[in-house]
Amino acid sequence: MYVLLCVVIVLIIRACYNISCAMRKQRRIEKIVMKNFPGPELKFFFGNALDFVGNKGILEVLLDYKSKFGDIVYTRVGPTANALIISDSHFMCAILQPRRNLTKGHVYTFTENWLGDGLLTAPAELWEKKRKLLTPAFDFHQLMDFISVFDKQCDILIEKLIDQAPVDSINIHSLISLCSLDIICETAMGVSIGAQRNQNMEYVGAVREMCRIIADRSRSVFKSMKPFYVLTEDYLSEKKCVEILHRYTDRVIEQKRTERKNKKPVVKKRQMINKRHISNLLEILLDYSDKEKGLSEKEIKDEVHTFMFAGHDTVTAAVSFFIYEIAKHVNVQDELYNEQQRIFGESEVNKAMQEEHIFQMKLLDLAIKESLRLYPPVPVFTRKVTNEFRYDGKLIPEGINLTLFIYGMHRNSKYYEEPNTFKFRRFANGLMLPPGGFVPFLPFSNGSRNCIGQKFALWEMKVMLSKLIRQFEFRPAEPEHILDLRAEVVLTSKNGINVKVIRRQK
Ligand code: HEM
Repeated sequence: MYVLLCVVIVLIIRACYNISCAMRKQRRIEKIVMKNFPGPELKFFFGNALDFVGNKGILEVLLDYKSKFGDIVYTRVGPTANALIISDSHFMCAILQPRRNLTKGHVYTFTENWLGDGLLTAPAELWEKKRKLLTPAFDFHQLMDFISVFDKQCDILIEKLIDQAPVDSINIHSLISLCSLDIICETAMGVSIGAQRNQNMEYVGAVREMCRIIADRSRSVFKSMKPFYVLTEDYLSEKKCVEILHRYTDRVIEQKRTERKNKKPVVKKRQMINKRHISNLLEILLDYSDKEKGLSEKEIKDEVHTFMFAGHDTVTAAVSFFIYEIAKHVNVQDELYNEQQRIFGESEVNKAMQEEHIFQMKLLDLAIKESLRLYPPVPVFTRKVTNEFRYDGKLIPEGINLTLFIYGMHRNSKYYEEPNTFKFRRFANGLMLPPGGFVPFLPFSNGSRNCIGQKFALWEMKVMLSKLIRQFEFRPAEPEHILDLRAEVVLTSKNGINVKVIRRQK
C-alpha cells in the first residue's frame, strides 16, 4: 500500500513537471503568435476549451471563429494544445510545399493505439521510407487492374439496394461503407472478406466510435491528457473498439499469409502488365518483411490498419454526400444519367466498367469535384511545426500546430460565389484563382504528404456512382432529412445520410 502511494505521488509529480515545462514552451509560442494573429479570449488553464462544451461540434466552433476573427485564428484547448486555425488557401499552400511540415499535429497521437505508426500518422523520420515502399501499390497499372473489383463489389451493393427499393428513407452511408470495405480489402490487400454479403457491421461500427472518441479528445482538456483520459468511459470504449478493429485486420493478414503458403491465391496474386511486375499493398508489405532488416510484424499491421481505415471511410463519406446532394438536385441527376446513357447505351443498364469509360464521364467528374468541395471527407487535418518559418513576414514558431480547416476554405466566400450552394458546373472553366494563384481546393491535401490513394478514390467513386445512377433515382428522404454534419476525423452526419431510392424503369 505504501509503495503504491509512493508510485502515485511520483507519477503526479512527473505529470506536473511535464505540464509545467510544456506550459513554459507554450508561453513562448503564444508571445510570438498572438502578436500577429487574432483569436478568441483565452481563459486561465482552459484556453478556449469551454467553447466546445455541450453538443457543439468542431465544425460549428471553427466556423464561428472564422466568422468572428478571419481566416487565420489562434486558439488553445487546455494549457498547451495550441493551434492556428487556417482557412486561407495562400497560407495552406505555403504550409504544404513539398518536403515542408511533414510532422503531423498533436491530435494524431490519439490514434496511436489503433493505427500505430502507419503511413497516415508516421513521424516524419519514418514516413519517407514507407511512402517510397508503398507508392507502387497505387500506380496507374495497378489501378486498371482494380476496376473489375470495383465493378463486381458495386454489383453486390446494387443487389442490396434493389432488395430495399422503393424506399422513402434509407441511410445510404451504411450500405456504401460495407461496399467500400470489401473494395479496399480485395484490392489493396488482395483478400475477399464478404462484408456486404455477411452484413458485417462490427468493423465499420468500431471505426465510427473510434472517430467520435478521437474528435472528443481533441476538444476536451481532460480527455486530451492521457492520465485523465484513462479514467474515462471513452478509454474503455476505445480498448473494445481497438480489439475489434485489430482482430478484423489481423484476420485479413492471416488469410493472405495462408494463401501465400498454399500458393493458391483466391484473388489474382501478381500480374505482369506491360512487362511490369506489380503487387498489391499487402503483397509488398509481406515481401518486404521477408527481407533482412525488413518490416516488423507491428509495422505490417500498422499499415494494414491504416489503409483499411483511410481507404474505406473517406470514400464512403464522399459517395454518400454526393448521393444526398444529387437527390436534392433532380436536374443534375438527369444530366448525369443522360451522360451514362450516352456512354453505355440505353439498354446496357449494368454494363461493366472499363478503363476508357472513366475518362468519358466529364459531367460526373465536375459533379464529384463540387461535392468534394462542399463535403470534403477530411474536413480538417493538422501539422506541427518543427522548423520555424516565416509566412507573410510573420514568424511561425516551432511547436505550433497548424490546423488546415479545409471545410472552412472550401466554403469561404473569398474564393467561391454562393459557397454553400451545390453548383455542379462550378469547376467547368477551371478554378477561380485568388491573387497569387493558389488553388482553394484541397480535398486530398497537397505536397509530399498528400493522399496516396487519390486516384484510387476518384476511380472507385466514378465506378460506384456511375452504376448507382444508371440503376436508381435518388430523391430527398421522406420525411425530410437534414444532415447533422460533424468533423469526426472523417466528415460524417450524426443522424445518418438518408435519401429516398426508386429503381429506374427499364
Ligand atoms: C475521397 C476519398 C479520400 C479523400 C478525400 C482523402 C483525403 C486525404 C487527405 C486530406 C490526406 C492528408 C491527411 C493528413 O495530412 O493528415 C490523406 C492522406 C492519406 N490517404 Fe487519403 N483520402 C481519400 C481516399 C483514400 C484512399 C482510397 C486511400 C487508400 C487506398 C487513402 C489513403 C491515405 C493515406 C495512407 C494517407 C497518408 C499519406 C501520407 O501521409 O503519406 N486515402 N487522404
